[in-house]
Amino acid sequence: MIHEYEAVIIGSGGAGLYAALEASKKAKTAVLSKLYPIRSHTGAAQGGISAALGNVEEDKPEWHAFDTVKGGDYLVDQNAANILAETSVQAVYDLENRGLPFNRTPEGLIDQRRFGGHTRNFGQAPVRRACYAADRTGHMILQTLYQQCIKNNVSFFDEFHIVDVILDQKKCGGIIALELATGDIHIFKSKAVLFATGGFGRMFSITSNAYANTGDGPALLLRKGVPLEDLEFFQFHPTGIYGMGILITEGVRGEGGILRNQDGERFMEQYAPKLLDLAPRDMIARAIMNQISKGKGIKGDQSIYDYVHLDATHLGAEVIEEKLPEISDFSKTYLGIDPAKKPIPVQPTAHYAMGGIPTDENGRVAADGKGSFYEGLYAAGECACVSVHGANRLGTNSLVDLIVFGKRAGVEMAKFVHGSHFLRFPKHPPKSGKALIEKLKENRNGPQPEKIRSQLQKYMTEKVGVYRGEEDMQKALTVINHLREEYKKVSLQDTNKPFNTHLLELLELGNLLDLAYATAFCALDRKETRGAHARNDYPERDDKNWLKHTLAWLKDDRVSVSAKPVDIVKWKPKPRKY
Ligand code: FUM
Repeated sequence: MIHEYEAVIIGSGGAGLYAALEASKKAKTAVLSKLYPIRSHTGAAQGGISAALGNVEEDKPEWHAFDTVKGGDYLVDQNAANILAETSVQAVYDLENRGLPFNRTPEGLIDQRRFGGHTRNFGQAPVRRACYAADRTGHMILQTLYQQCIKNNVSFFDEFHIVDVILDQKKCGGIIALELATGDIHIFKSKAVLFATGGFGRMFSITSNAYANTGDGPALLLRKGVPLEDLEFFQFHPTGIYGMGILITEGVRGEGGILRNQDGERFMEQYAPKLLDLAPRDMIARAIMNQISKGKGIKGDQSIYDYVHLDATHLGAEVIEEKLPEISDFSKTYLGIDPAKKPIPVQPTAHYAMGGIPTDENGRVAADGKGSFYEGLYAAGECACVSVHGANRLGTNSLVDLIVFGKRAGVEMAKFVHGSHFLRFPKHPPKSGKALIEKLKENRNGPQPEKIRSQLQKYMTEKVGVYRGEEDMQKALTVINHLREEYKKVSLQDTNKPFNTHLLELLELGNLLDLAYATAFCALDRKETRGAHARNDYPERDDKNWLKHTLAWLKDDRVSVSAKPVDIVKWKPKPRKY
């Protein structure tokens, strides 16, 4: 089946929906998603979206931009960070005007809470910058934007999984997708294609990411010759539910929650005396791991690590029920613990990819680190790297990123499609997606994909986790390469067409394997500690040799790495103290 849309967007999280909303004002627009749109992973972003509204105390976009750059350990492109901070104020009001039910101050303004690394006056003390809808902020963004897209007549293709992209040299002409309900292959001809497929935390065993977060967009583009930026920077959120990784929002600490070790000590006093439990995530995740390795963690039996406590008992049941109802529910459901009465067992959980498809500030996909771009190809949201997060993203800046850069990409696409034509379509559109599926069907008695997946997740968590070292990562790479070879032999057990979830899982596994390979490779390559990339063997930041982005390329099934300069317009790197 062949469809024709001027703009096609893959992914229906915050970035995809905002881009669709803007593109659809001027272009015939379709959104494809492998999920039902409002089940997208944006819904898991709990605690808030930052903007210097100054509703509760003085704040300025410049302070927000500075915090973003410092939080990202100076690997942030500073012009992009300025755009993020400046634009977020209007972006939040736009969401409010579109119906998002933010929590309110007694005066009726949008309420704001504290979040890690967000400070007043260039690092003086925590500032209330995160606008929030209880601890369901991401979910509310999805609902709001989806309703607006329906109003704008965006066409939705739900439960469609991307299998290929049509590229003619550096021009994009559409995509190919598998309809999960029927097993049919669809071709979408398009003048402009945006990837907004989200993250790939499922390469780790302990993760806050949804099952769907398998990096389908970046993996596909990597195989097509598009480089991926800064893959070595993967964020571990300090507070995942112990043994499961499900997110317990930083909003708990924003409201006053405290991390404690087995002796009940507030251990962040030792690591970040000024910001304490509201230091950036990379520092807190490392502090937890340090406590655990010193024997100060609490003995657990469900995971490879021990855990620490997140204590919210002093906040009182009323505050928890009003401002943090979701985590109260999670804690009761998964642990049988009422956080108003007992502390929550937590451990670092793989949460967010700072790296991804390299783009400019308007979502255009870069073809190299030297200023050339693909035509008609865009990316936004977690799968993209603008780069506003550098080596470590601040909490709440993911939602800002989706809204600010999703919108900008949509505006740019709408402009682009009016001056351009559909690509002259090849007589025989690429068969690679279909061929891959056929090959999986042909393989007989191959290795079990479930084993490949669990080995991958185990090695990524144990060897390419919060702390990394040469020997461990070499081991991980050897294992991943072996798993990638095994993957070539896996066989599709279920050959039925409708709702073939086994096929979907195999396709997703292939994507995870390629991205894990590139991630581990880049992590081994970067010989310094910066932001979320903490090397045991290179414990210092090394600006002389490593103040640069990396671009990973996949050629002949092997990764190579090149460099891309960091845009430093205002703030020169300084030691990061909190
Ligand atoms: O902790 C949280 O609520 C997560 C937010 C984020 O990743 O930005």
